[in-house]
Order: sequence, then C-alpha cells, then structure tokens
Amino acid sequence: MQIGSFLLKNNLIVAPMAGVTDRPFRQLCKQLGAGMAVSEMVTSNSLLYGSAKTRRRADHEGEVDPVSVQIAGADPAMLAEAARYNVANGAQIIDINMGCPAKKICNVMAGSALLKDERLVGRILEAVVQAVPNTPVTLKIRTGWDKEHRNALTILNIAQESGVQALAMHGRTRACGYTGEAEYDTIAAVKAEAKIPIIANGDIVSPEKAAFVLAYTGADAIMIGRAAQGRPWLFREIQHYLQTGEHLPSPEVGEIYRVLRGHILDLYDFYGDLTGMRVARKHISWYTRGLRDSAQFRHAMNQLQTVDEQLQAVDRFFAQCMDLAHRFDDAALKIDEGREALQGESDE
Ligand SMILES: Cc1cc2nc3c(=O)[nH]c(=O)nc-3n(C[C@H](O)[C@H](O)[C@H](O)COP(=O)(O)O)c2cc1C
Repeated sequence: MQIGSFLLKNNLIVAPMAGVTDRPFRQLCKQLGAGMAVSEMVTSNSLLYGSAKTRRRADHEGEVDPVSVQIAGADPAMLAEAARYNVANGAQIIDINMGCPAKKICNVMAGSALLKDERLVGRILEAVVQAVPNTPVTLKIRTGWDKEHRNALTILNIAQESGVQALAMHGRTRACGYTGEAEYDTIAAVKAEAKIPIIANGDIVSPEKAAFVLAYTGADAIMIGRAAQGRPWLFREIQHYLQTGEHLPSPEVGEIYRVLRGHILDLYDFYGDLTGMRVARKHISWYTRGLRDSAQFRHAMNQLQTVDEQLQAVDRFFAQCMDLAHRFDDAALKIDEGREALQGESDE
C-alpha cells in the first residue's frame, strides 16, 4: 500500500479517534503491527493553535513514519492554513475529516456534514492539496449523508480530480451514526471505479472480518477504530492471519499487563501526571474488559486521583490475575499428569 511516496509496511491502518489516537496510542499500535495510524483531528481554527490540546495534537516527536495528521473544518482557506501549519510541525500526510458525525463538528458544517455540499468539498480539497504541494492529502468520508443520499462515488471523482491520494470510507451514512451494521457494497462500488487507493472502514473486529472486508470490497487497505481500543495487538493478529490463514494465540495476561503498563507510563509522560492519569482510565478499562473481577476493579480505579494510586491498583489487579492464571496452569498440568499416569496404568 502506497500513499504518495510512502510505502506502508502493511495495509492495516489505525482509524483517527478523537480522545484515543494520541501519539502514545498511535506509536503502540505501530509497534504491534499497524502500518499507519491517523492522528486525532486537529482543528482548523487557528485561534486554537496555541491551546495545549492543539499543541499536543501537533507533537509527533519520535513517531514512526509516516505521520498522518487529520484536520477538520469547513472553510477552505482555514483548512489550507491548518494543513500548512501541521506540515510545518511534522505531518507527512494530511488527512481531511469528512467522516465524523459528532454534533460539535457537524453543527459547524464540518466532518460528515460536508458531504451534503459537493461544491464545497471540491473547494476544500483543491485548497488543501495546493497548500501543501509536497505532502500527500488523503480524505476520510462516510458513504453519504443519509441512505437516500449515498454520494460516495461523486465524492471519489471530486477527490481524484483535486489530487487527493487515498480515500478512506466508513461503511455508514452520516445519519446512521454508529447504529446498525456497516455495509460494504458502497465501498466495493467506489473501489471498482477508483484510480486511487481505497481504505475500507467500519466494524472490523477480528482477523476473519478483516479478510472478509478486504476480499468483499477489493479495498487496498483496512482501517480499524474501536476494536483496537484496549487491543493494540489486534494489528499483528490480523497481519498474521492474512499472511498464514492461522490465528496467533491471544496475548497472555502477563503480556496484557506489560503492554498496558508501558502504555500508561507513556500517557503520564505525554500529558503530564494529572491529565495522563485521567486519559489512562479509559484505556485501563478497555484493556481489562473480560478479565476476572474487572468490573469491580474498574469502578474502584475510576475513583483514584493520583498516578501512584492508579499504578498500584493496576499492579495489584494484574498480580491477582497472573496468580490465578498460574494456579490454573498448575492445576491443568496436574490434570495432564494425572491423565498420563492413568493412561500409563491402562497401557500396562
Ligand atoms: C471515540 C471515537 C472518536 C472518533 N474520532 C474521529 C475523528 O476524530 N475523525 C474521524 O474521521 N473519525 C473519527 N471517528 C470515527 C472512526 O475513525 C471510524 O470511522 C469509526 O469508529 C468506524 O470504524 P470502527 O468500526 O473500526 O470503529 C471516531 C470514532 C470513535 C469511536
């Protein structure tokens, strides 16, 4: 999969998620197998460039290439300026958000609301592509405004004419929000016409689903959002399955603990202790989903107010899980030994 001059190591991409795909999470996903990760959206309102949030979102220090930064807005000149600003701050790919249904974004006619105004889409894409002539520009859309207005094919043509170099599509309309199932027919129809790489997105949660979506749509790559929350190793699992048709074993509790601990230390480092501790809460909740007694642990953990308390709680919780896992392994071993002994007796 190639975007501009960047040859990705594979075709598995982390979807942009505001409040989630910060630098620590993007780096972790890349370490664990993702070929690219798109940043949280950065506002095109230059009045906010100085804010701590926007400065943080434009901080890519040490990030593995290519650094893809998503910008959001509705004004062509402001988006062009945002693209220049982010390229000056290390962005190597500029992604434009026309896929987000969030009210905060759509009310100002940005995100997926833009799909309704095709002329404006063209003006925005041209302005951004011209503003950063040496940087590939990509676009992220939904299939259309609502089920009666699925205009993804028209948007594809506008994007291609404007010089956009890849198109990511979430298989829902703006009106669908996150309800129902993502559909892949519209993505397949767009791919059949496309001259640029198409990235399929929506409800890809497992290696099998990844293989299915790639085959069904013919897309060049897939993009994964929610399923990677608390499961950054999903990318290596998918890559292995696509290459071999076989499943990697799920990570053991000890590995989950190591990955989570490294992740939260990175969050403290990136955001500072107080904000880092707050951001870490949701990640800790995601990683511990499905582990024994985790609901109780999550509830208690969300009340903690310091980094030390949070780390100790995580250490204690995983020590318990690993102790249980060892006891379970020991018990399983004893059962196996018992079975073998019985087998030996019956053979004699
Ligand atoms: C918490 C959250 C934040 C999101 N933020 C953005 C965003 O900033 N920009 C964007 O284009 N899409 C955003 N999305 C949409 C995702 O990129 C993706 O298109 C959507 O979640 C469907 O993919 P999935 O089923 O793999 O999660 C967000 C989704 C979630 C769940």
